Amino acid sequence: MSNADDLKRQAAAKALELVKPGMRLGLGTGSTAAHFVDLLGQRVAQGLDVICVPTSERTRAQAQSLAIPLAELDDLPQLDLTIDGTDEFDPALRLIKGGGGALLREKIVAAASRRMVVITDASKAVETLGRFPLPVEVNRFGAEATRRLIEREAAKAGCRGPLTLRTEKGAPYVTDGGHYIFDCAFGTIPAPEELAARLVAIPGVVEHGLFIGYAQAVISAAAQGIEVYGSLEP
Ligand code: 5RP
Repeated sequence: MSNADDLKRQAAAKALELVKPGMRLGLGTGSTAAHFVDLLGQRVAQGLDVICVPTSERTRAQAQSLAIPLAELDDLPQLDLTIDGTDEFDPALRLIKGGGGALLREKIVAAASRRMVVITDASKAVETLGRFPLPVEVNRFGAEATRRLIEREAAKAGCRGPLTLRTEKGAPYVTDGGHYIFDCAFGTIPAPEELAARLVAIPGVVEHGLFIGYAQAVISAAAQGIEVYGSLEP
């Protein structure tokens, strides 16, 4: 296991301490969340009783392979706790997510959860969001027109930089919801709330990767140890 991977697993193990019998859990997506799902699977195999909603088909497949009990969000619309990774977090616990392409379901699941706790390694900490290109999920219909509107509205919020249509194996990447993603390399996002408000007002934008007001805590693992930002209290 690489150093970074080891740190992600440490953060996941710390988050596992928050899981209590009977909980309804949201399961995030990405390499850090995969560590959490793996560790949770071990606990389930030992008899832990939980029920979980995955945030992507990838996470669903992993959880099924570990025999973790799953439900659809429609059947379990209120969750106790969601554990997910992040691409960036700032001192106000604002996040950029969606590097793994699951931002829409991740946000829906986080919004349905009483608590969202983020697990990460310390390399994702930033003073100002934007170093990681902001993923914006768009409807496939009129994607080019939507791209132009994103550029225009982002500029009004002080954000400029190239927007790249995400691809996979030479074709546009298609999300679990059947949409495209533009990765917006702004470099810095001076006013995340304003940018978020402008992006959601664009008709072709399905969702964006700014998670503002979702994370109750960030568990960040570094070589020197684990740091917790925010509160892990229920
Ligand atoms: C997926 C995400 C992930 O949480 C984010 O990309 C972090 O991934 P990783 O844990 O692999 O660094 O938002 O859409």
